[in-house]
Amino acid sequence: MVFTKKPSQEHSALINCLPTAETGTIFVKGVEMAFKSGQQQYQVLQGIDWNIKSGDIQLLMGPSGSGKTTLLSILAGLLTPTAGQVYLLGEEITRMSRAKLERFRRHNIGFIFQGFNLFPALTAAENVEVVLNVKGIRGKKAQCQAQGLLEQVGLGLHRNHKPCDLSGGQKQRVAIARALAGNPQLIMADEPTAALDSQSGHNVIELLYQLAKEQSCTVLVVTHDPRIIDVADQVTYLEDGQLTRAPMT
Ligand SMILES: Nc1ncnc2c1ncn2[C@@H]1O[C@H](COP(=O)(O)OP(=O)(O)OP(=O)(O)O)[C@@H](O)[C@H]1O
Ligand SMILES: [Mg+2]
Repeated sequence: MVFTKKPSQEHSALINCLPTAETGTIFVKGVEMAFKSGQQQYQVLQGIDWNIKSGDIQLLMGPSGSGKTTLLSILAGLLTPTAGQVYLLGEEITRMSRAKLERFRRHNIGFIFQGFNLFPALTAAENVEVVLNVKGIRGKKAQCQAQGLLEQVGLGLHRNHKPCDLSGGQKQRVAIARALAGNPQLIMADEPTAALDSQSGHNVIELLYQLAKEQSCTVLVVTHDPRIIDVADQVTYLEDGQLTRAPMT
């Protein structure tokens, strides 16, 4: 696979202007991130520009330690960059107050963590209901929606199982059902197939693909998994703090 360091003309034009109706659901301009280690400053991201369209499934790949999780966390509003702007759905999240950002994230972003992050003492249904509750959906309505979401990910019959009674693939599907609670337009996933065997990984990828194509979600996946490349609209590569886009064949 050939990677090009030089942004396309269209990409350069986009990154020189503020978001418009034509720019993407995720629009990133000049994002930098540095971490302090003792007296030293460690620059992880350097002038990241990125534009992701609605309904796309985008992969972010790159070597371990290159800053993929850091960038995803910034895009999800979980980390504040040291410089630059992030616009999601046309709104600049890097300028929002903490309270507004929290509301925005609750309504618009579903985040899937590598380690599933399920509550071990709760059933699959309760794990989904908890997130619905945080989004203001309670009682019977939350129970019905949780059941619907579990059915959507093929786990309708496992609603009463606790995480310890589910396989890795099933746990990840509960995590996806949770991320879908409240119908967010943006789904961000950090290595969602890393802990899964080939068949479970394939099912999870299918699910993410359906979300992008049938529900017009914008899906951004950090991965080392080459099996996902086939379903991606675009693969972007992060190395030495900078992005390069891989041409799709
Ligand atoms: N909170 C933090 N404080 C200090 N350094 C950090 C912090 N978070 C990440 N880093 C450093 O930033 C760099 C990028 O980390 P990050 O986790 O984003 O990489 P990654 O590409 O996701 O790696 P992997 O593929 O192994 O998951 C690493 O050198 C890491 O040690
Ligand atoms: Mg990571």
